[in-house]
Amino acid sequence: MTATYKNRRTFAIISHPDAGKTTLTEKLLLSGGAIRAAGQVRARGERRRARSDWMKIEQERGISVSSSVMTFERGGIIYNLLDTPGHEDFSEDTYRTLTAVDAAIMVIDAAKGIETQTRKLFEVCRLRDIPIITFVNKIDREGRDALEILDEVQEALALDVAPMTWPVGMGSDFFGVYDWQKQKFHTSSGDRGGAYARTLEVSGLEDEVLTGFVFDRIMDQLTENVELGEGGYAAFDKESFLEGHLTPVFFGSALRDYGIDDLLDFIAEYAPAPHSQPATGGRLIMPEEDKVTGFVFKVQANMDPKHRDRIAFVRLCSGTFKRGMKLKHVRAGKSIAVSAPIFFFAEEREIAEEAFPGDVIGVPNHGQLRVGDTLTEGEEIHVTGLPAFAPEVLRRVRLGDTMKVKQMRQGLQDLAEEGLVQIFKPDLGSNWIVGVVGMLQLDVVIDRLRNEYGTEIGFETVPYSTARWIECDQPTLNKLIEAHRMSVANDRDDKPVFLFKNSWEIGYVTEKFPTVKFRETREIV
Ligand code: G4P
Repeated sequence: MTATYKNRRTFAIISHPDAGKTTLTEKLLLSGGAIRAAGQVRARGERRRARSDWMKIEQERGISVSSSVMTFERGGIIYNLLDTPGHEDFSEDTYRTLTAVDAAIMVIDAAKGIETQTRKLFEVCRLRDIPIITFVNKIDREGRDALEILDEVQEALALDVAPMTWPVGMGSDFFGVYDWQKQKFHTSSGDRGGAYARTLEVSGLEDEVLTGFVFDRIMDQLTENVELGEGGYAAFDKESFLEGHLTPVFFGSALRDYGIDDLLDFIAEYAPAPHSQPATGGRLIMPEEDKVTGFVFKVQANMDPKHRDRIAFVRLCSGTFKRGMKLKHVRAGKSIAVSAPIFFFAEEREIAEEAFPGDVIGVPNHGQLRVGDTLTEGEEIHVTGLPAFAPEVLRRVRLGDTMKVKQMRQGLQDLAEEGLVQIFKPDLGSNWIVGVVGMLQLDVVIDRLRNEYGTEIGFETVPYSTARWIECDQPTLNKLIEAHRMSVANDRDDKPVFLFKNSWEIGYVTEKFPTVKFRETREIV
């Protein structure tokens, strides 16, 4: 096959809410020509919400619940930007989306530095050795000193930082961005503090282009920063970046268009093309292989609640996918014809005729495909590394109308397969228990069961605070169940789970059953 995958860059943006992810996404799409006017990412979201009842929660709470994919082309490079919900209650969805990217942009607010959600998401990237590009946003406002931010990233994340650009002033003294390696000054059309309009070549920090325009005290500070920076931080090193040990840092303002092209140019030149994907049996799927493989990292219900169709987001790992291909759905042992695969562009969706490793295609289906599923041209392998996390909130389902048990169960099963909730069926026949990572997910479950399954449910508290997957042989499991029948349940795949009341109990039971492993995460295969 041709090495077309080499021009794919599949990445996500991670950030704490409000750091500027939406604004940056929009500006990246604008720069890539994928949208024509600012405000469209938000507007698109609004149109979509208006069409769909089940996303009312998104609208009411002003948060983005569902991830999507945005593909655009710039300078011969195909960028696949995978959007992730910023709200921490939906972090599980984000974690899984991160299994489908090859790099990530970490957006930090220049005034706030590293925030809790940024750190959590960063840790997931680190676990997977995903290279991170840091974007320090909002430098057009008063923020912390550049050196202070660089030190914070370095210390808080234990990562080498390599400053790629420097802010020239901030807030009311904001003049632009200085690229000290390429000797370029990105600035406005002439007014101080204006939006990015031009890039000027400079011969160095003494160049009159800079000194004639920028206040002396700002120039002094810039000179000092660049000198201290040169000696005090790592120089950019591609190898180190690709291994996830070093992050290049760009300063910018998404709102005023500073740093956008820097990011895209950098991604084109240095961010990795699609990499290998681990699978069962120690197999590494290489992008250059001829046969198609892919895995589902996200499932989204149809926007129209009357149709139970879903779209499975499949990240291709190898081969050249062609529309109409028959692929083996490994878990079900069945073949499926992918006749209407979808590409997601910023403004529209299009039928995908052909796709390459790194690309994401949407596969409409009636519920057969679920998160973690692998599609191949016949090979019996499962892609690994997609985690299910121990839930932090557990609630027992209370059904309004007992005649609707069937609908409720179907609904919960469907939502579990989408990856929105986890369900636990207690060994002793009481009502199902749902587990989520954040409280907001519970509201989404109530809303969707009402709108899509015509079922009113509520939630009751349970004496359990967390769940752990049980790993042991059958005789030990039998003994464990005998001793703790009330606390053992099965997950949606009938894998045994222990529902713990508190951390003391975890310690107690672990001590009594030393050969049992209680896992916080489970691979979804
Ligand atoms: P998020 O997706 O990470 O949650 O952040 P979002 O882009 O929505 O940005 C959060 C707020 O920060 C928005 O203001 C946005 O305009 C502002 N913002 C983003 N980037 C920059 C920047 O580079 N400079 C400055 N000064 N502000 C920035 P808002 O008032 O909450 O929303 P809006 O009414 O402006 O849309």
